Amino acid sequence: GIDRGFIDALPKAELHLHIEGTLEPELKLELAERNGVDIGQSSIEDVRASYEFTDLTSFLAVYYPAMEVLRTEDDFRDLALAYLRRAAADGVVRAEIFFDPQAHTSRGVPFATVIDGLWSAVQEAPSLGVDAALILCFLRDMSAQSAMETLEASLPYRDRIVGVGLDSDERGNPPEKFAAVFARAKEVGYRLTMHCDIDQVGSIENIGTVLHEIGVERIDHGTNILEDPALVAEAVERGIGFTCCPVSNSFVTADMKGAEILALSRAGAKVSIASDDPAYFGGYVGDNIEALAAAQELTREDVVRLARDSIEISWADDAAKARWL
Ligand code: HPA
Ligand code: ZN
Repeated sequence: GIDRGFIDALPKAELHLHIEGTLEPELKLELAERNGVDIGQSSIEDVRASYEFTDLTSFLAVYYPAMEVLRTEDDFRDLALAYLRRAAADGVVRAEIFFDPQAHTSRGVPFATVIDGLWSAVQEAPSLGVDAALILCFLRDMSAQSAMETLEASLPYRDRIVGVGLDSDERGNPPEKFAAVFARAKEVGYRLTMHCDIDQVGSIENIGTVLHEIGVERIDHGTNILEDPALVAEAVERGIGFTCCPVSNSFVTADMKGAEILALSRAGAKVSIASDDPAYFGGYVGDNIEALAAAQELTREDVVRLARDSIEISWADDAAKARWL
């Protein structure tokens, strides 16, 4: 097997990480108390017991209510700093952090509170050994109009945001619903990625749409692309990045999809490994690589390639990439 020290020592970029999904039970309880929010749970055991899910929908039903404890700029800053410290310990040198403004603005927390808190942590990240960036995600189960309003609200903070993504429930919310939003985002200079979740109804059609109509540079998850070898060849040719999350997959589907992740990488696609929502799925990036390596008997070459690919498909500047590669 591949030892953990080898994995941790490789410089890597974490490119699929929802900051709201890093809310560990300890911090959740601390913030609930600090803000006087009654979450109906008073111990770590209570909080952990509420983390029961069998698919994406049941996960999201636990995930959104938990955000109630995030209220102030300091809350968002503390959340992101806790993640960055944990990521640094795993050898993450670059973190591109998803955040969901609509999950907060929809419950009365201003966009400015969210972005100011996260930005404060991003500015402090280099002192922890991490180069950090923010990716604004739209909630696909909300309207395209709400996404467009969120995009407009982000423009005063354009310099703090590297790109946009799309998350939440894919069922009934295909990528074309957001074609105009992503076209506008591209126009203002944001980089583009989108979730194509595992084994969704219409997964392969949605992957075709994000590649041909939306024009993304990366796909979050996306291993269902293997159903269409012509699309795999196209993704390889175009250098499309895939951000795969084995531990998360094992919670929201029947398995970690390790064979698919490895097949995609060995086919020549740029594949990175990430943790998605580590506080809920119980594994940060090192745990994800370790789990995949054990399940698929990865070689050291495989692990090195995944780490290098993560740097290559990151949206860091070229000088920083050259230092890490
Ligand atoms: N998919 C969709 N929505 C999400 C995810 C995910 O992996 N994580 C957090 N919100
Ligand atoms: Zn995700």
